[in-house]
Amino acid sequence: CKTRKHKFNIVMQNVTRLCHTRSMVTVNGKFPGPTIVCREGDRLLIEVVNHAKYNISIHWHGVRQLQSGWADGPAYITQCPIQIGKSFVYNFTVTRQRGTLFWHAHFSWLRATIYGPLVILPKRGVPYPFPKPYKEVIIIFGEWFNADPEEILSQSLQNGGNPNVSDAYTINGFPGPLYNCSSKETFKLKVKPKSTYLLRLINAVVNEELFFSIANHTMRVVEVDAVYVKPFNTRTILIAPGQTTNILLETKPYFPGAKFLMSARAYQNGPSTIDNSTGAAILQYEPPPSMKNKISAKMLPLLKPVLPQINDTSSATDYTSKLRSLANKKYPARVPLKVDKRFFLTVGLGTNPCPKNQTCLGPNGTKLTATVNNISFINLPTTALLQAYFYRKSKGVYTTDFPSKPLIPFDYTGTPPNNTMVMNATKSVVLPFNTSVELVMQDTSILGLENHPLHLHGFNVFVVGQGFGNYDPKNDPKNFNLQDPIERNTVGVPTGGWIAVRFLADNPGVWLMHCHYEIHISLGLRMTWIVLDGKLQSQKLPPPPADLPKC
Ligand code: C2O
Repeated sequence: CKTRKHKFNIVMQNVTRLCHTRSMVTVNGKFPGPTIVCREGDRLLIEVVNHAKYNISIHWHGVRQLQSGWADGPAYITQCPIQIGKSFVYNFTVTRQRGTLFWHAHFSWLRATIYGPLVILPKRGVPYPFPKPYKEVIIIFGEWFNADPEEILSQSLQNGGNPNVSDAYTINGFPGPLYNCSSKETFKLKVKPKSTYLLRLINAVVNEELFFSIANHTMRVVEVDAVYVKPFNTRTILIAPGQTTNILLETKPYFPGAKFLMSARAYQNGPSTIDNSTGAAILQYEPPPSMKNKISAKMLPLLKPVLPQINDTSSATDYTSKLRSLANKKYPARVPLKVDKRFFLTVGLGTNPCPKNQTCLGPNGTKLTATVNNISFINLPTTALLQAYFYRKSKGVYTTDFPSKPLIPFDYTGTPPNNTMVMNATKSVVLPFNTSVELVMQDTSILGLENHPLHLHGFNVFVVGQGFGNYDPKNDPKNFNLQDPIERNTVGVPTGGWIAVRFLADNPGVWLMHCHYEIHISLGLRMTWIVLDGKLQSQKLPPPPADLPKC
């Protein structure tokens, strides 16, 4: 195993897309940011130096951070942000996982421009559980905003309504040919015929789940969220912000020069930000050298894939129901079979009173908010929760009484209650080391049903069940899949439905869980889990690094 060092200079950089030039915050002047490649077992030392005009922190999304919770990165959860002019070295070892993940800023909406791939290769000599691809390619989805995302956010928080949508979806930083003033800004993947490509798809989009298809081609899904799955073929994949998907793409014996569109469009079944536009890239068959000058690419039509409609929940469900973990001898599914603690959490929207002297654009003149069990974690703490926990100074920072179920049950997916007001608080759940947890997350109809991609830091969860309507604790568990449930770090709570997951709390620290739509996290759809130390030295959270940023 190796130690790999990287330097992330956070700098402002002018970037132009859709004929708009904007000074944006970047890593090393790049958009998207640099790719980090390592192997399972490697240690990463990433020095982040903040030369920009915002405070920042970086999160290594999906990295379990076993015994290294200080390096997880969400601002005010595991660390205070890195202030302007300051630096911090993220120091962690990637153990017990391999596959495609990504990193992104975890403060405010800075991840709109600060993100990049994180590829963990298997240990040297360990093959993939599928035939070795001819080439590996990263496809990272993002969004382009003509305006400054920080301004969009602060405006929408001020007026308490929904924010503006972005102006384009991007693939590897480019909106592609379907937007105005963008045909030159297209990512092209040049391939040779009859070869296998491994595409590492990453959804770093700010506020939307995506459908993705490639014209005339089938994709073979082999991994999600850095966990191998039972391979299956599909024409369309669904990928939520925070999720990754590895697919094998078999190229055909096509006429050289043939071009196919790869496109991504939102899946969004709810009342918030809706964007029906399509990001695209081009898959192009390379002519052999002997034919290079004889073929005019213009002669060939660009074929487009058929994507599901924006609110096509049945296509979305069809896809997710096919996902199964590999669950073989070599890659067993370690789903907890017994449960120590059960939680039933409602996720959805709500309202806050509109402050005096303000006009709020939320429902009935209120401020829009988002909650877990009617608790909105919207006000940032004064210090990082992990520090407060570690030094036993939680007083005035957080309380440990997060409820394990809604205080007032209601018909979650039916007629919403009249009172949609929520409580603003920073509450945490405390779990003894190695507690096995079952967590049912239920979407609510308060201000509208909606899909929510929920991301848990520090763990993967096993999706043992999901369904529509209200969760039925008597009957639904009878159908739980404990054999080969998909294991992932970000799960989609279905629109008007529920999802049941299990995980083992074997990682001491303070771990954030939130909707991976930035608008929902900003509105308070987040909570924290505190996992206590175990008895053994290897089950304890070590003290913080000396350079951990102070608030
Ligand atoms: Cu990908 Cu808390 O984030």
